[in-house]
Amino acid sequence: MNNMQEEEFEGKKVEASLWIKVFKMIGENKKHLYFLAIFMIMQAAIDVVFPLMNSYALNNFVANPNVNFNHVTIFGVVYFILIIWQGINVYQYFKQAGRIEMGFSYSMRKKAFQKLQELSFSYYDKTSVGWIMARVTNDIARLAEIVSWSILDLVWSLFVMMGIVVVMLVVNWKLSLIVIATIPFIFVVSVYFQKRILKAYRTSRKLNSKITAAFNEGITGAKTTKTLVLEDSMFTEFKELTGEYRAKQIKASLFNALFTPIITSFSTIAIALLLNFGGNMVIMGVIEFGTLALFVNYSQQFFDPLRQIAGLMAELQMAQANAERVMSLLETEPDIVDTPEVLEKYGDLLNPKFENYEELKGDVTFENVTFYYNENEIVLKNFNLDVKAGQTIALVGETGSGKSTIVNLICRFYEPKSGRILIDGKDIKDRSIGWLHHNLGYVLQTPFLFSGTVKENIRFGRNDATDEEVIEAAKLVNAHDFIMKLENGYDTDVNEGGSRLSTGEKQLISFARALIADPSLLILDEATSSIDTEKEKLIQDAIVTIQKNRTSFVVAHRLSTIVDADRILVLKHGEVIEDGTHQELMAKEGYYYRLYTNQFNEEQQNELLKLNKKRRQEELQSLSME
Ligand SMILES: Nc1ncnc2c1ncn2[C@@H]1O[C@H](COP(=O)(O)OP(=O)(O)O)[C@@H](O)[C@H]1O
Ligand SMILES: [Mg+2]
Repeated sequence: MNNMQEEEFEGKKVEASLWIKVFKMIGENKKHLYFLAIFMIMQAAIDVVFPLMNSYALNNFVANPNVNFNHVTIFGVVYFILIIWQGINVYQYFKQAGRIEMGFSYSMRKKAFQKLQELSFSYYDKTSVGWIMARVTNDIARLAEIVSWSILDLVWSLFVMMGIVVVMLVVNWKLSLIVIATIPFIFVVSVYFQKRILKAYRTSRKLNSKITAAFNEGITGAKTTKTLVLEDSMFTEFKELTGEYRAKQIKASLFNALFTPIITSFSTIAIALLLNFGGNMVIMGVIEFGTLALFVNYSQQFFDPLRQIAGLMAELQMAQANAERVMSLLETEPDIVDTPEVLEKYGDLLNPKFENYEELKGDVTFENVTFYYNENEIVLKNFNLDVKAGQTIALVGETGSGKSTIVNLICRFYEPKSGRILIDGKDIKDRSIGWLHHNLGYVLQTPFLFSGTVKENIRFGRNDATDEEVIEAAKLVNAHDFIMKLENGYDTDVNEGGSRLSTGEKQLISFARALIADPSLLILDEATSSIDTEKEKLIQDAIVTIQKNRTSFVVAHRLSTIVDADRILVLKHGEVIEDGTHQELMAKEGYYYRLYTNQFNEEQQNELLKLNKKRRQEELQSLSME
């Protein structure tokens, strides 16, 4: 797990600049935000007007012996209209807030997706998939919620409070001081409690996900647990987790239980004071009875928005972590970019200028290349290599010797720390990433198929390929026969069929995909390692086919697949220790010779074992037949 995931941001002040940045992301949803604000202000106005209306009714209709019934009718009509208006308002602000929430998370996810496409390999080395997934799902959803619904609360609360304060001051400033005096107390208490409540809920949510994970592990690892007799310790661990969860939940409800009565007692105190002073004023005839009722109403109504604002402050503080993480993702700059001059000539990835793309012939040169992933662990030091166009170069060597690093540098997934890589005599950086990848085919150890049909997957190599070309490519790599045996042939969905497709079959499809793109430069990194021996011959033939007429780099674990290479480079700790054809290296009787003979013997032995096993089975079968 990435440690950033567990980072705590509590105790930090609400950082205005961060939230301003988040709100700027609203972008095209701004229109809805303005509408929302307008509806909320109108709603707040209605909330302030209703008690005023009530107090008017008390003063003029209830406390007045000579009621004018025309006025009552007009009053009733106005009241009715206000209620209708309120209904429309509520409908509208729910609609607008919902739109903002959806629109915001949609546009944030789109931005994040684009960013993730732009970022280079080194970003993915440092960042776990789980971390990224959490950012684009949970964090963005959380921000969208805050940006829409919390804003709704905030605007409404601020305007209700302002409205109430203004009306109270206008009606009677002395009485209003009683209510206003409670504001600071309530605010402080609210922030205090809200923070603790949110924190307790947050910790318990975290614990909850740990419990789910523990369940998951318990279920999927049940067999292993049993064989290792771990039941007891697993259960103890689980009990601890659930115990902690329970404690946190209790804490949260405790805070909740305390919070409401405390706030209520503030309002009760305010009302008691109001009734005391205001009551005297009514008796002395300074104010009317309806006015006192208005103040009592307002002082009850006052606390809701106050609590909302306090809650929102606490929420912003808590969600700051979400905001920081999302913004850090969106603000990450890819570390491999084209220079402005290159972009000018070749265009960027989304708007390539194909007319300026030169043909790639396939000469590849490493000139004093030094490269490392981490500064204290140099992988290539002053590495030199010169490859002629059209050759097949095999890279062999033990795990960690730098084979993948070399091919990744050719793909410009990483860039040399010093030195240069030249393609057709020109620095790789003098032409665009788009140009390079346009001319490059790369087949990985574990074939990756996109969701969609077999045909679509092959066509990912070149979008404008016809059905005939797709089939032609599949035939060339020996994939046609098994594809035709799938239930819908080329139209079989690979996700549905994915589990039925063997790794070898998937690999053949990815070969067809590479072939149809007709790249000038082809890279196969351990493309044959995870393949069943049954398919090996097919794959080998396929490789020979797709290597024709292009420069190719083949990283192979199974040496039998590369004996025909034009050049075999044997790597050890990032250095070429042997270089030549299979015959030359065998004659040399060095490192490659030992590697090859060992593997060859092993394979022979395995073959013999298999043969023996088969014979034994046949014997057994014939015995049981008799
Ligand atoms: N993404 C990476 N981050 C950090 N170190 C890496 C990364 N990829 C490879 N290495 C290190 O670089 C060295 C060469 O690795 P690699 O080129 O993958 O070797 P090979 O493909 O021959 O097995 C190894 O020591 C490996 O641990
Ligand atoms: Mg490798």
